[in-house]
Formats: sequence, C-alpha cells, structure tokens
Amino acid sequence: MDNNHLNGLLRPKSVAVVGASATPGKIGYTVIDNLLKGKYEGKIYPINPTATDILGLKVYPDIGAVPGTVDAAIITVPAKLVLEVAEECGKKGVKGLIVITSGFSEVGRKDLEDDLVKTANKYGTRVLGPNIVGTLSNSDHFNGSFAPGLPLEGKASLISQSGALLIALDAATYTRKVGFDKLVSIGNMSDVDFADIIEFLEEDDGTYCISLYIEGLKDGRRFIESARKAKKPVIALKAGVSAHGAAAAASHTGSLAGAAKVYGSAFKQAGVIQAADLNDLFNRTLALSLQPGMQGDNLLILTNGGGVGVLATDAAEKYGLPLKFAPAELQTEMKKHMPEFGSSKNPVDLTGMAGTEWYYDSVHYALTDKWVDGLVVLYCETAMTNPMEIAGAIKRADVEVGNGKPLCVSFVGGEKSDAAIAWLVENGIPAFNAPDLAVNAIAALREYAKIHQDGGTPRFIPNEKARKASLEVIAKARAEGRNALTEIEAKQVFNAYGLPVTVTSLAKSEDEAVKLAKEIGYPVVMKIVSPEILHKSDAGGVKVNVKDEAAVRDAFQTIMKNAKAYNADANIHGIAVQEMAPWGTEVILGSTSDPTFGPTIMFGLGGIFVEVLKDVTFRVTPVSEEHAAEMLDEIRGAPIIRGARGEAPRDRKALTRTIVAYANMILDLRDEVAESDANPVLVYEEGKGLKVVDARIILTKK
Ligand code: ACO
Repeated sequence: MDNNHLNGLLRPKSVAVVGASATPGKIGYTVIDNLLKGKYEGKIYPINPTATDILGLKVYPDIGAVPGTVDAAIITVPAKLVLEVAEECGKKGVKGLIVITSGFSEVGRKDLEDDLVKTANKYGTRVLGPNIVGTLSNSDHFNGSFAPGLPLEGKASLISQSGALLIALDAATYTRKVGFDKLVSIGNMSDVDFADIIEFLEEDDGTYCISLYIEGLKDGRRFIESARKAKKPVIALKAGVSAHGAAAAASHTGSLAGAAKVYGSAFKQAGVIQAADLNDLFNRTLALSLQPGMQGDNLLILTNGGGVGVLATDAAEKYGLPLKFAPAELQTEMKKHMPEFGSSKNPVDLTGMAGTEWYYDSVHYALTDKWVDGLVVLYCETAMTNPMEIAGAIKRADVEVGNGKPLCVSFVGGEKSDAAIAWLVENGIPAFNAPDLAVNAIAALREYAKIHQDGGTPRFIPNEKARKASLEVIAKARAEGRNALTEIEAKQVFNAYGLPVTVTSLAKSEDEAVKLAKEIGYPVVMKIVSPEILHKSDAGGVKVNVKDEAAVRDAFQTIMKNAKAYNADANIHGIAVQEMAPWGTEVILGSTSDPTFGPTIMFGLGGIFVEVLKDVTFRVTPVSEEHAAEMLDEIRGAPIIRGARGEAPRDRKALTRTIVAYANMILDLRDEVAESDANPVLVYEEGKGLKVVDARIILTKK
C-alpha cells in the first residue's frame, strides 16, 4: 500500500488544518469538527496564529512549530495567504495539500494557481484542488472536508469535479442506500487530476468501483490511459455536453465533433461505463460495487407478475441485452416451480401465486444453470407474500450457489418492499423499486465484463518514411503561405501512409489533361485544383465520367470558366485528372484536433448521411482494430455496411484496416495536420477493398 504516492494526501496518518478556527460557522472550524466527529485516528494539528485551543486540541502558530511529521495539510486560509502557507508546508515536508480555498483559476487567477503548484511541487508536495470541499475516507475515518459527514459505508469511491454536488451526494448516500468508501473533491485540478486519483483508487483496497462526476478533463489522453489500465469498473457521468458546441471549422469532421460525441467515444476507448444522469450514476455504481461482471449475454428474468416482466423485457432491449428464450432443459426445471398457467420461457413468470419457496428454488436453479450469465429477479408485493421473506430467500439461494453470477433485483410495492430493498442492498444484492432499473444495473455489469473481454489495446506505430514524404509536401504548401493542401497533395500524404487513393495527376493545360487521361484510362474524373476552392462541386469545378478526348477538352474549359466565375482571385494550380473509381458505398473518414483529447478521428456514412443526418462516430487516436470495428457497428447506418436489402456486405476488413491506418497517420502528423477528410471513400463488396476518392488536409497554424 505504501508505494502509492497519494496515500499521504488521501489517506493521511497525520493532518494539519492551516486556517483552523475556534469560531463555529467558519470552514476552518467545521473541518476540525468533522475530523473529530469522523473519529479520525491520526494526529490532528490545528494551525492558527492566535488561537490556543480549538475543540480541545492544542493549536500551533505555524506548521513549522508542529513537533511530528505531517502527511497532509488542509488549507482554509484566504487565497492571498495560500502561497506563503504552501511554502511553509513544503519546508515541513508535507506530502499533500488539500486546498479548500477558492479564488484561483475559477475567477481568472490562473497565475496564482500556477504559483501554488510550482511552490508545492518544488518540495515534492502534491496539490488537491484548490476550490474543493475536501476529501473523505471511511476506511480511515477521515473526513478532511466541510461536507456533512462521512458517507454511508460502501465499496465505491467517487471523484467529483463539483464540490456542491459532492456535498449533496454525501448526504444522499444514506437515503439512497448507496455506500461509498472515499469521496474526493477535485475542484480546479491544478495538480492532482482524475488520472492520478483513478490510479490511486485502482490500488486502494477499500474501493471496488470508481465513480466519476466530470465537467471537463484537462488531459484527455492521460485520462484514457489511466482508466484503460484500471481493472476495477470505472463509471462516469459527464456534465456540460451541450455548452461546448462545434467550433467553426473548415472540414466536415471539425464541425461534426461536439464534446458529447468525442467524450462518449473516449469513454468507450478508456473502458469507462457511462451514466446517463445522477440517478443512473447512483444505480449503476451500486451494481458495479456489489456484483461481478456478467460474462455473457444470456440474461434470465424471474418474475411473479407479467407487467413488470414486460417492462423488464423492454428495458433489456433498450440497454443492449435483448432477451432470448430459455433453453428447453431450463424451462422444464422452471415449470416445477410454477402453476400450469405460468410461463417458463423468459421472462420466467412464476405467477402471483409464487411464494418464498418457489422464489428460492427458481433462483437457486437459475444461478446454477450454465446457460444463465446473469439473473434479474422481479417481485410485485402481494397480500399472500412477505417481501422480506422473499428477499431472504433470494439471498439464501445466492449464498448457497455462490458461483459469482451477477444478480439484480426489483421489488415493486409499498413500505414492506422498500424495507426489503434496503435489506438486500445491505446484504450485497443491488435492489431497486422499478424493473427497468434492475435491468439497467445488470446491463452495466455486462458492459463492465465486455470491456475486459475485448482487450483492444491500440498500438501507435510511427512511420518515418511516410512522415518524411508528407513533411516535404506540407513544407512546400507552407512555403507558399498556404494552410490547406490541394487534393493532389493531400492524396500524396494519404498514399504515403498506405491509404488506397485514386490515381490523380495535375494537368496545367488542356493538352496535358488529354495526355494524362489516356495514361490513366477512360473514363476519368476532372477536378479544379485551387487552395482557395475547397468545396469544388459547389464551384462547378468537378466533372465525372469524362469518356473521351473531346469530353476532356470540353470539361477542362468548363471547369476553368466556372472556377473563375466562382472566385476571380483564386490561385488555380490546374485541373486534376483522376481515375474514375467504380461506384461503391460512400463513407467519410476525417480527423480533428479535439481541445481535450487531441488528434481524434471520425467515421460515418458519406454523402447525404453526413450532411443531413450527421451519422458519424469518433475515436481518439491511436485506434485498435477492435475499436475500428466497433465504429462500423455503432453508426445508425451500420446495416448498410453489413449489406442491407439483399446487397452484398461491404469490405469491413479493408475499412477497419483503413481506419487504423488513418488514425496512425493523424497521430504521426499531429503537429502538422489540424483537420482532414477523406470524403468520399468508396467501399466495395467484401474482398474488393475501397478507394479514397477525395482528400482534404488543413494544416495547423504555425
Ligand atoms: N496560518 C494559519 N491560520 C491563519 C493564517 C496563517 N498564516 N492567517 C490567518 N489564519 C486564520 C485566521 O485568523 C482565521 O482564524 P480565526 O477565525 O481564528 O480568525 C482562519 O485562518 C481563517 O481565515 P479568515 O480570514 O477568517 O477566512 P475565512 O474563514 O472567512 O475564509 C476560506 C477562508 C474559507 C478559505 C475562504 O477564503 C474561501 O475560500 N471560501 C470558499 C471555500 C469553498 O467554498 N471551497 C469549495 C468550493 S466547492 C463548493 O462550492 C461547495
């Protein structure tokens, strides 16, 4: 345990409160009071220049006067005094500062915050906050905060970017019966951030599930790394997805990448389970902290009521675990515990006649059956049954089988049912008052197991040769004062990284166009090449299916005329003559530099689908083959790739490989490429590959 360097900060053995006060109502008083009320067993050193006794504790005038070592210092002096205090703490050898004080970057004083971190880090002291409520740990009876008290004991730990929310959730742990071991307020994240604490909690014996309330990450890539490495479930609620908005951008990808989509994708890559809202965060946290992952898709539902069974069936589909009929053998067994008119399919309806023994027998059998990967037990309160007895029977069967299959429960009824729910939770079984909540909870357990089954760790392979060739193309464009590559240049870059582009050459004259068309072979496509004309079709700068010499000459003249009419000042390099790829399914690949996650790629269906439906999905680079394959499946148009309405399936393998290569290219050129599109990419039948027909690269500003 001691090799975890944040122990001094989050599980201190001794703590000073700098700014401790004898005046009730002040934060410096409340923190001391909380430490005492929490029954903290470590040493507490109140620091105050004038007081001598605070709540019966000896007070020291400054931290230097403290006789022993101090692991953590909780700081509750006003912002203008914090730097000086940090310096003194550093000199004293304090391991971590818990800076409750506000008045830093959140009010535009980033300079003060930077100075604080610099001062502390100079001595190897880490900083939690500033602008936080503090940090709490049930395992250590440590309430180093001004939150109401230690939370209900439990196996989850929460990191919250909002102090107010942490305080609210702290109290709610008792009413909702969701227990936590640690609550960490992270505030401005000047030094210690989500990634640090995830790594700490991964090693922490008291934590089985890591819950996050996130408003914004500072270093998205580090977050992904630390969450991906975690073996414990990590669940996140992301707030503030609407405020970000898509920045005005020159490429499709830039304009389609909103915070919500990129965060959602990054969470998937990081193996982070998502919560839809606060209630969901509580419910899913409860399940993830009490039950193991669900190792397969076979969910069995047991019920005594048809209505809740149907609601649970709907929920199962909604949360990605559609029900299948139970196998014959299982059905035969289930029939033994129900009347004639019961149903053994799935949901297994034991009927309103189901009493304690039927519940016990069927739960017992279901958990032992090898087809069943996870079990949801539903109960509607009846006059003939006692909810607490039913709860007891479920628990008894679970303990007796004891094979680690996940189990979630829903009781619908009055006070007796609520009491049974509370009892089940106290006894390690997630229980809820609505059937969809129990199904949602088990779906989270399935998501967790899947994350650890797919193992899709991406590998980034720098490509020296391709990089060198690309940098030459880019340098030429920069030398001409351009921040956009022409299509031909962009294709040279794509080609260097092994992306299959259509053969394209530049013709400066009509005769040259004729010569090139002959070499490439008819029919050809002709397109205007001008850094000022990015949307070539809008400018009348594209002719397809140009079939012979006369048509080439005609197209050359028309395109030139249209381009000049569109933008008289445009610098026209010439006309690109290119191989006309046979028509295939249009998709788009693109990239953008996300403010939080850096180089990020996009995939979607092309043409009208991208323009109107915005049917696209994102991944932070690099991308594994598994995640690339997931991208193909998660767009709404996925059936088109799979081969809808009798069409042959598209070449998934080629598409997956191209996505991985595209991501590698974008990461390799991260300092040079701000945004890019391959649009359209034409995808052919299985085994026939794909072609990048048009390419666009916008350079970073230098
Ligand atoms: N060393 C130790 N103690 C000192 C020092 C020093 N160098 N200098 C002053 N003190 C003492 C003061 O004398 C005082 O004690 P006293 O009551 O005996 O006089 C104590 O430190 C506190 O100083 P005050 O000037 O009284 O400051 P006050 O308590 O009013 O406010 C605070 C300090 C709470 C840190 C305030 O500046 C602040 O930042 N408040 C916001 C905190 C917050 O809300 N954070 C969480 C954000 S998340 C959310 O919104 C829930």
